Amino acid sequence: MLKIGVLASGRGSNFQAIIDEVEARRIPAKIEILIVDNPKAYAIERAKKHGIPHLYINPKEFQTKEAFYEKIRDELISRGVQLVILAGFMRIVKRPLLDAFPNRIMNIHPALLPSFPGLHGQKQAVDYGVRISGCTVHFVDEGVDTGPIIIQAAVPVHPDDTEESLSERILKLEHKIFPEAIRLFAEGRLEVEGRKVKIKDYKLPEIYFANPEMRE
Ligand code: GRF
Repeated sequence: MLKIGVLASGRGSNFQAIIDEVEARRIPAKIEILIVDNPKAYAIERAKKHGIPHLYINPKEFQTKEAFYEKIRDELISRGVQLVILAGFMRIVKRPLLDAFPNRIMNIHPALLPSFPGLHGQKQAVDYGVRISGCTVHFVDEGVDTGPIIIQAAVPVHPDDTEESLSERILKLEHKIFPEAIRLFAEGRLEVEGRKVKIKDYKLPEIYFANPEMRE
C-alpha cells in the first residue's frame, strides 16, 4: 500500500478530506506522518484525532532552507514515504526534497493554473474580474505552482463575490479533487510525460466543470 507523508502549515481541511477518503478505503494508501512548520497548525489536532503521527520541524532551527528540506526529506524517507502531499504548506519546496521525490510531490492551488499562481489565488481572481476560477492539483517542481497538472475543477465567479465567498466555493471542490488525484496516483494510473500527466482510463467527472448546486 502506498505510503503518504503530508506537509501542512495551517487548518488542514484538505488533510482532513484526504484522511476521510483513506479511512473509507477509497484511497489504497496509509498516511505515515504529518509534518508541520507551525506548532499551532490545526492540522496537528486532526492528526491526533485519527492516530496519525505528527512532527513539528522549526524552520528557524536551520541555517539554510536547504538544510530544513534535508531534514524533512530524511524524516519522510526514514518512514518509507513514497508520495508527499502539500496540504496548505505555505513554503516553496527546495531541491533536497524535490530531488528525493521527483513527480512524487503533489500540491493543491486555489486557482486555475497557470492563472494566479502564488499567494491569494482567490483574491487575484476576484480582483482580475474573471468569470470562472477553480482549483488545480499538480506535481511540484522548482517553480511556484508551475508543475505538471493532474486535475482541475472550475467554479463560477459571481459579480458580488469576495475573496471569502469565492474561497469557500473553491474549497468544496479542493476537497474532492485532491483525494481524487491521490487515489489515481495510488492506483498507479498517473504517468508524467514532460509537462503532461496522462491518466489511464479516466474521464473527468462533469461535476468538475459546473456544479448545478453552485448556481444562483
Ligand atoms: C487551500 O486553499 C489550498 O488550496 C492552499 O492552501 C489552502 C489550505 O487550506 N494551497 P487547508 O489548510 O487545507 O484548509
